[in-house]
Amino acid sequence: MIGGNLTKWTMSYFAVAIVWLIIGECLMTIGFGFPFAATEAPDTLFVVHIVCIGWLSMAMCGALFQFVPVLVAKPLFADSWQLPALMLLTVGLVALLGGFMVLGGHLPVWLWLLPTAALLLVAGFGLVVTDLAITIWRARASIGPAYFVIAGLCSLCATAALGSAFAWSLAGLGGASALLRSGIPLHAIAGLGGWLTLTAMGVSYRLLAMFMLAPDLDKRRIRTTLFAGSATIGLVVAGGLFAIAREIGINVVLISAGCLGFITLALYGRNIISLYWRRERAQLELNAKMSAWGFVSLAAAVLLAAVLAISGSFQTHVEAFAFLVAFGWLSGLVLAKLYKIVAFLTWLETYGPVLGRSATPRVQDLVIERRAAKWFVAYFISVWSGTAALLLGQSAAFQVAAFAMAVATLGIVQQLIRTRRLADVTGPLRLPGGSRAPHLLYASI
Ligand code: HEM
Repeated sequence: MIGGNLTKWTMSYFAVAIVWLIIGECLMTIGFGFPFAATEAPDTLFVVHIVCIGWLSMAMCGALFQFVPVLVAKPLFADSWQLPALMLLTVGLVALLGGFMVLGGHLPVWLWLLPTAALLLVAGFGLVVTDLAITIWRARASIGPAYFVIAGLCSLCATAALGSAFAWSLAGLGGASALLRSGIPLHAIAGLGGWLTLTAMGVSYRLLAMFMLAPDLDKRRIRTTLFAGSATIGLVVAGGLFAIAREIGINVVLISAGCLGFITLALYGRNIISLYWRRERAQLELNAKMSAWGFVSLAAAVLLAAVLAISGSFQTHVEAFAFLVAFGWLSGLVLAKLYKIVAFLTWLETYGPVLGRSATPRVQDLVIERRAAKWFVAYFISVWSGTAALLLGQSAAFQVAAFAMAVATLGIVQQLIRTRRLADVTGPLRLPGGSRAPHLLYASI
């Protein structure tokens, strides 16, 4: 169980992350970046990093600060690092976006912005990685979900190192031109596939088992998936760097890693199906249903990649694939889990202190699933429509889908705010004697 160790700033990470998500969706709606600019154009990089760092990485860091101590049953190494890390990441991201604006000609030539951003982001991610890694290391945890987090954190280090090399190089301050020419897929795969996907896999094993009352998975199965996933990312980064250094082209590495990645996701899919199958909670809660839609999006992305690769058009449609991974799989899963996590943490914070002394509502009394369900359905349908629009080259339809995503996200956010404000708990149970209403943006602990 998530015990008394509530972390103070997890909600703040979630709030900042959601703001970036909405900004990203609004930019796609007005046609900023791809498909109105090239994939590697500064405007596209601007939107990509709002989504990858601002939304997905911030939400993941906030969730990990809360869940790593639960995974390893030990307190966080340094609680006090969370807020500085959040600030460094936010300022670093703003500087990085400024750097992309400079490259795009929207700002004067302040090329120092890019290297400064890299330093700030490395410092912010460095605090997160060190804090979480020491927490896991001190717990001497046996191989399980926590090791996926370790693999994810290693991938984050690789992503940040490659991103920093690009930033210095683009500012004309470092060599690394071969890396800049050919290394972008390594950076993107280490970020989306290693850091975000491997970590989401580890966290989802634990959260699904906890929230659906399913028995934990067999350790051997988890270990095999972990080894396959780590080998995939290891091959991409190490093999890719070797190939670039030897100037032999990275396609062989990417194709081999693609096959290994396919095996990893097949193993993961088998594990997830087994968790749903063996659950004790007969009636699925909304978060579990919507997580399943995230898993379906991941399966669809894998299928899409396979079809595109076989038909020789992967390169042409890589953006549609990346969009489905970022918004269907990763964002879909994060939003579905946020819906439960926010309710659960709010419940713990408000009613934990008076538990056993006063009557309290159940966690599910903090939410009205019927009202939230329509926004989730709208979100996934618009993501899938957006993917189809990109595949068909329909830019205007993509903008409509992005607008629908933004509206659906706002609908989900409204439900999260209601949960945080205990707006759907009525009567004397809402605030029994000795309990306090939680703050919207941080835990009052
Ligand atoms: C220290 C942090 C980071 C820095 C300084 C950074 C910097 C950069 C730069 C400069 C590029 C453009 C390279 C070029 O066009 O030549 C780039 C591309 C990219 N980055 Fe990052 N990045 C960082 C973190 C991340 C993270 C955490 C993710 C994902 C989780 C990510 C995902 C991507 C993707 C997908 C691209 C390719 C985008 C495209 O081609 O449109 N980055 N990054």
